[in-house]
Amino acid sequence: MCGIVGYIGRAEALPVLMDGLRRLEYRGYDSAGVALLNGGSIESRKAVGRIANLAEAIQQNPVHGKTGISHTRWATHGGVTFENAHPHSDQSGRLALVHNGVIENYQTLREQLLAKGHQFKSQTDTEVLAHLVGEAVDGAGNRTKAGLVEAVRMALRQVIGTYGIAVIHADIPGVMVGARRGSPLVLGIGRDEHFLASDVSAIVAHTREVVYLNDYEIVAVEAERFDISTVSGSGADFQVSTVEFSADAVDKGTFPHYMLKEIYEQPNSIRDAMRGRLSSEEATAKLGGLEMTNAQLRAVDRIVLSGCGTAFHSALTGEYIIENLAHIPVECEIASEFRYRNLPMDRDTLVFVISQSGETADTLAALRESQRKGHRTLGICNNVASTIARESDGGVYMHAGPEIGVAATKSFTSQLVILTLLGLLLGRIRHLSHAEGRTIISEMEKLPDLVAKTLELDAEIEKVARKYARANNFLFMGRQANYPIAMEGALKLKEISYISASGYPSAELKHGVIALVNEETPSVFIAPQDAVFDKNVSNIEEVKARKGPVIAIGTEGDTALAKICDDVILIPHAPDYLTPILSVIPLQLFSYHIGVALGCDVDKPRNLAKSVTVE
Ligand code: M6R
Repeated sequence: MCGIVGYIGRAEALPVLMDGLRRLEYRGYDSAGVALLNGGSIESRKAVGRIANLAEAIQQNPVHGKTGISHTRWATHGGVTFENAHPHSDQSGRLALVHNGVIENYQTLREQLLAKGHQFKSQTDTEVLAHLVGEAVDGAGNRTKAGLVEAVRMALRQVIGTYGIAVIHADIPGVMVGARRGSPLVLGIGRDEHFLASDVSAIVAHTREVVYLNDYEIVAVEAERFDISTVSGSGADFQVSTVEFSADAVDKGTFPHYMLKEIYEQPNSIRDAMRGRLSSEEATAKLGGLEMTNAQLRAVDRIVLSGCGTAFHSALTGEYIIENLAHIPVECEIASEFRYRNLPMDRDTLVFVISQSGETADTLAALRESQRKGHRTLGICNNVASTIARESDGGVYMHAGPEIGVAATKSFTSQLVILTLLGLLLGRIRHLSHAEGRTIISEMEKLPDLVAKTLELDAEIEKVARKYARANNFLFMGRQANYPIAMEGALKLKEISYISASGYPSAELKHGVIALVNEETPSVFIAPQDAVFDKNVSNIEEVKARKGPVIAIGTEGDTALAKICDDVILIPHAPDYLTPILSVIPLQLFSYHIGVALGCDVDKPRNLAKSVTVE
């Protein structure tokens, strides 16, 4: 939800900013802009739409400087217009500011500033913040580094909401100020140069030494040094971390899209989610990050899983997996509903929030609400430095590597692996025998190879996808743990191709959904060889009786489905609790190929952003 990149050093800032913006474009792509400090003035360039439009604007009207800030926007307050594109300026026009977040009291502040004679050029909440900082600089008349930091501090004390910001001032060269509350901001440390970014992927090509700023921290950045303090004015301790991945991990490589690259990374990401976490000797999973003893885990009598979008679908799938393996009741709650629902939870309820980015505002709110009620709340996150990872009481990292495609793919299967590990761990503390634990481990160890084998179906899936690409509506159906996979398949198709799609438990057909079945509406059935195979077949028959085309995802060796379905994709056999990790892969590829066939921008679907940091 908006990306920020800032640079200060000895090199030209623009290439660093543009490269960083391209890497952050997944966070929003409604408009983009840069502001560079050059010879006592600030020059800005902006464009509506993609970074490519900004690059074109700069080509026509070049801009230079060794200090600069930049932004790629996902619109919240104010439409998608040139005027609303960041960076924004203050009343004097000498200050530039970029912002990721939402200033909730911006209307009140704007009215106060208007009454003082300020004039605004945009409808954004951000411009109000720029004016507040500028007013504080002008009011104090202190045009020094300390003066700019103090002005930022004064402005931030007036705002309610979330922010990750970067600010420069034409009269105060040689310094760039950043601050955060609720929106991520990372400082990159180079030799005689420093960077600010919403996400390390923007700067990892330049440095892997970083400081993840905490909420209410302000950083004054110069080419050779930086100082971190807090909004309240005290000093702040910080830790320099080394980014785990290299710049290559955030490149597309030879793949045409990040989404495809990430789908293909799944044998490895699944292996990484399990790495070091399976103990054959004890026939269980080791999840040290939970920071709970076996006695504490034994006392857990109920689990609540919460997340949004794809992460919620992994929660729903996890409910089946954990209940199956550990016999502990699991309840799933959409994170955006969690804090308003007042879910009854007893003392021994353990809460997990699931989030790839670790920055999703609704999921963070669920975490905080659960903690406020005194529950131990754990995170399942991919982004190690994220707010959820840092605020949770422990958890499990996905280790999936950066996921850039807006559609979540590899993070979903990593989440399922972690929920299976959790089921194994809890099951072994309860009723699962050593031998049963060993069997589960050996089945899990086969997963990366089975996923690789499933990916070999790509060409076949592409053919089927092209055949149905012009349909206007799709139904996805599955039973048991494959019911949430049907929902996930529908979500993938909707976001990638803009085709209407919905996912249901197969048996729900006859309770209403069947009214949608006709010759033009394909139904995708996930019907592996499991305990409910025959039930799925009956539902397929019901669709076929009404002339609905059926695409089935079955199990290798199946011959029954081909007799009744129009198209069949056969995935390798796996136990019921692991099948969802395989059955979702054809659905990811199916959506991808339909999106490509329709000419959609699959990595950056319209209206979406990778991490949704507003409520
Ligand atoms: O970063 P998170 O896992 O918290 O994100 C949650 C959802 O916003 C995300 O899964 C979204 O639904 C994806 N675009 C789905 O592909």
